[in-house]
Amino acid sequence: MEKIVALCKRRGFIFPSSEIYGGVGSTYDYGHYGVLLKSNVKNEWWRAMLQERDDIVAIDSAILQHPRVWEASGHLAGFTDPLVDCKTCGQRFRADHLADLPCGRKPSKHPGETDECDLTEARDFNLMFETTIGPVKESGATAYLRPETAQGIFINFKNVLQFSRKQPPFESAQVSKSFRNEITPGNFIFRTREFEQMEMEFFVPPAEAQKWFEHWLAERERWYVELGIRPEMLRLRAHDADELSHYSSGTSDVEYLFPIGWSELEGIANRGNFDLTQHAQFSGQKLEYFDQASGERYVPHVIEPAAGADRATLAFLVDAYDEEVVEREGTGSGEMRTVLRLHPRLAPVKAAILPLVNKDGQPELAREVHEALRASVQSEYDDGGAIGKRYRRHDEIGTPFCLTIDHQSTEDRTVTLRDRDSLEQERLPIEGLAEEIVRRVHAPWKTPKQL
Ligand code: GAP
Repeated sequence: MEKIVALCKRRGFIFPSSEIYGGVGSTYDYGHYGVLLKSNVKNEWWRAMLQERDDIVAIDSAILQHPRVWEASGHLAGFTDPLVDCKTCGQRFRADHLADLPCGRKPSKHPGETDECDLTEARDFNLMFETTIGPVKESGATAYLRPETAQGIFINFKNVLQFSRKQPPFESAQVSKSFRNEITPGNFIFRTREFEQMEMEFFVPPAEAQKWFEHWLAERERWYVELGIRPEMLRLRAHDADELSHYSSGTSDVEYLFPIGWSELEGIANRGNFDLTQHAQFSGQKLEYFDQASGERYVPHVIEPAAGADRATLAFLVDAYDEEVVEREGTGSGEMRTVLRLHPRLAPVKAAILPLVNKDGQPELAREVHEALRASVQSEYDDGGAIGKRYRRHDEIGTPFCLTIDHQSTEDRTVTLRDRDSLEQERLPIEGLAEEIVRRVHAPWKTPKQL
């Protein structure tokens, strides 16, 4: 994990937030390549949901919602973690994680393990961030930064049903920010207080809930594998009864073998009719579906695949990170290279255009190639430093194709394409190059990285 954190900072993917002020706990800022990578993750999710299916519509609900939403959802009463305070060291710990946490005074021990530790009784701490709507704090209504995007979908059930002219099964999907005042955030962007979720609520006739639950388990695991995650690094794990959220009658997690061990990447829950029933009761509105063909009226059940965009980005980074000894290009001597073997569809930059030397018409031709490519793919013109150094830089940000312009290029209008993974080089004509790069980016891809 340390190597990935260091690479992310060095290469402009992810920085600790507010660093010049000493940082603020577990929040991160995304730099240029991080923005591109995370956008690609989100775009792939949208592609799988919207472009490749007919039964899903998009929504983007407000972060600030009516406070009653969180009463109805159960978050106000139940979205809590049990906490204990240590009166000796002044630190606060999750009561159910004591065995994994270091003591505030003696980090080799756990809280409560030394004679000095003086822990209070556990008490519930709500994870929602509170704020006020309106200019005057006292008279403003208390509002909450949403802890999940899902409720914004449930409260729009009627709107979506009316405009989309769909009948169950149909789904609303949303990608947006959520906020949780996590007590023990950490492990880089794995658990943060501000994060993006990619959630969808699939509304189904009650009798079809189990069938769709199983459909989405398989579908979501497939999505990660199609985007290059090694299947051996993924598994599905069903929640035990005592782990289930208050709304869930069955949940399975897609887990990834992170450097911290097997951990949740995405949760897929059978939420039954809990949410629509609660919001109907609290709002006084009918939230149900009338099937004209059968004359049946029912509250749809909900299957929810809920993923984290940041956590998925971390999994793709971890799975892509590789180191190998290679011949130094140009000299032949051994050299360690770090490479991000990202699926080309996820790679922040698809093609780097590199003039071999900064003279003899090469920069001009390289610029021409860059101009031709940038209309179709994210490409980058790079003329800074020795060619070997430029290759290494693009290996580290995961650029799948480096296109080198040399003196032959100015004579016969060809370029050398260097493949990031195999390091093989081939000559291609500039004519039709953009179409060829697009074809290669979208071709099926499997990582060469070994377990
Ligand atoms: N609507 C259901 C729901 O929110 P969840 O399991 O709490 O379920 C879904 O969250 C996903 O959101 C998780 O699998 C994870 O990928 C991501 N997520 C949750 N809390 C997070 C946090 N503090 N930091 C980063 N990602 C988080």
